[in-house]
Amino acid sequence: RVLIVDFGSQVTQLIARRVREAGVYSEIVPFDKAEADLKEKSAAAIILSGGPASVAESDTPRAPQAVFEAGLPVLGICYGEQAMVAQLGGTVEPHNSKEFGRADLEVVESTPLFDGVWPKGETHPVWMSHGDRVTKLPDGFKTIAVSHGAPFAAIANEERKMYGVQFHPEVVHTPRGAEIIGNFVRNIAGLEGDWTMAHFKDVEIAKIRDQVGGGKVICGLSGGVDSSVAAILIHEAIGDQLACIFVDHGLLRQDERAQVENLFRETYNIPLVVVDASERFLAALKDIDDPEQKRKIIGKLFIDVFDEEAKKLGEVDFLAQGTLYPDVIESVSFSGGPSVTIKSHHNVGGLPERMRMKLVEPLRELFKDEVRALGRELGLPDAFVDRHPFPGPGLAIRIPGAVSEDKLAILRQADAIYLDEIRAAGLYDTIWQAFAVLLPVRTVGVMGDARTYDYVCALRAVTSTDGMTADYYDFSHDFLGRAARRIINEVRGINRVVYDITSKPPGTIEWE
Ligand code: XMP
Repeated sequence: RVLIVDFGSQVTQLIARRVREAGVYSEIVPFDKAEADLKEKSAAAIILSGGPASVAESDTPRAPQAVFEAGLPVLGICYGEQAMVAQLGGTVEPHNSKEFGRADLEVVESTPLFDGVWPKGETHPVWMSHGDRVTKLPDGFKTIAVSHGAPFAAIANEERKMYGVQFHPEVVHTPRGAEIIGNFVRNIAGLEGDWTMAHFKDVEIAKIRDQVGGGKVICGLSGGVDSSVAAILIHEAIGDQLACIFVDHGLLRQDERAQVENLFRETYNIPLVVVDASERFLAALKDIDDPEQKRKIIGKLFIDVFDEEAKKLGEVDFLAQGTLYPDVIESVSFSGGPSVTIKSHHNVGGLPERMRMKLVEPLRELFKDEVRALGRELGLPDAFVDRHPFPGPGLAIRIPGAVSEDKLAILRQADAIYLDEIRAAGLYDTIWQAFAVLLPVRTVGVMGDARTYDYVCALRAVTSTDGMTADYYDFSHDFLGRAARRIINEVRGINRVVYDITSKPPGTIEWE
C-alpha cells in the first residue's frame, strides 16, 4: 500500500483516488497517527499531503521523522514538500507574493517523476496554492522545475527517491497531474498496479468468510447503491447465512420497493424480508411540520422496526453495513470546536449502537465511484449502479410541512414524470441529483374554463461531486417547459411548477 500522511488539505482524498486509479491501493492517516500506523502495517511508499498551516511557524504539523528514515520513496505535495524540506535541513519562509490558482511550470531537469509526461525544457500549466516558499534545499536535493512564484516548484533527491512538488498534481486543474502520481507509485516506488475491482472482490469475499465463519448476518437495505452492493457481495461470500431486511417506510418513490424486491429476489435470488411499515410512519408523522422533528421521528422509528424484524430472525451474530471510506477517514481539522448540525442525517448508520452486534463493513475501504465499479463487477445493471442518491428520510423531506398520503401520491407522480423527461433527454448521468418537491402552498390557476386551486411543485436538479457543494443544473427553457407542462397536465393536484436555481451553499440540496 501507499500511505498518505494527511496534513489537513481539502483535497487529500483526491491523492488517494489518483493512487488507486494507478492501480495501487492507498490509505490516508492523520499526520499525528502516521508513526503508529507505520509501525503496525508496512508501506511501500509515502505521500505527504498539502495542508492549511505554515511550516515557517513552530508548532505546526510535521511528518514523523521515521518517514524519512525508512528508506521508502517519499513524495511531498505543497505543505508536504515544505515539511519534508524543513525536516531534512532546508529552509521554508513566508513570502509576500502568494501563488494561488494556475501557474506555469518550467521543467529544468529530466526526472523519472515527469517521465513520459513533461520533458526537460517544456512549460506546462499546474495548479498552485501556497503562501510560504522553499528558500534553501536540504543536502542531496536538486531543483527539477520552477515557476514564477516558486523557485523550487519541484525538487528531487533521486538517490533516496524523495520528491517534492509545490503544485497540486492531484487536482484536475493540473492537467496530467494524475500521471505524475502514477509515475511516483509505479515507476519510482515500483508498485505493480494490479489493484483492480475483480481483485478487490476476491480478497474481500475471502475476508468476509474469514470474519463470519458459520455465523448469521443481517443487512438493512435502503434501496440505495451502497447497502445493495454490500449485501450482494456478502451473499456471494456466505450465501444464505445472510438475511436482508427492507423497511418500506411509505416515503419511497414510485416503484422503488418493487425494484428492490425484483433485484434481490429475482435477479440475485437473495432472501429478502420486506416490512410494510408505511402506516406506522405516516401515523408518527401526522401534523409534524418541523424538518428536524420529521427527520428524528423517521430515524428512530426505522431503527425500532428494523430491530423488531431482526429479533424475529432468531440469533444473529453480525450486522452488515455499506459504510464507505469517506465516512471512516478521520480528517484533520484545524478549525477546532464542534461543527454545527445543519441536518440530522438518517441512514442505516444509526443501527449499531442499538443492535450491539459485530459489524461487517466490506466497503469501508472504497470511495463512491469504486463502489459503483464493484457493483458492476458483481453484475448490477448500470441503471441501478448509477442511480442518484436518495436520502434516508425519503419523500418526507421533499414535502415541506406535514406529510400525508395524498401529498405523497401527488409528489410520486410528479417526480416520476420529471425523471422520465430527464432520462429521455439523456441528462440523467450528468446530473448529481434531480427530484421534485411538493410545496405546502396552493395557488390559483385556470384549466379548460375552470378555476383551479392546487399545489405548487418545485423542481430541483444539481451537479456536484460529493454532495458537499452543488450548483443548480442549467436546463434549457425548452426542457423545463416540457417537464412543467407534463406535470401540470398529468398530475391532479398540481397547477404550477417552478425551478429552483439555488446553489449549495447557501441552499442545501434537499429542501429540509
Ligand atoms: P443536503 O440537503 O444536506 O444533502 O445538501 C446532501 C446530500 O445528502 C443527502 N441526504 C441524506 N442522505 N440520509 C441520507 O442518507 C439523510 O438523512 C440525508 N439528508 C440528505 C441528499 O440527498 C444529498 O445527496
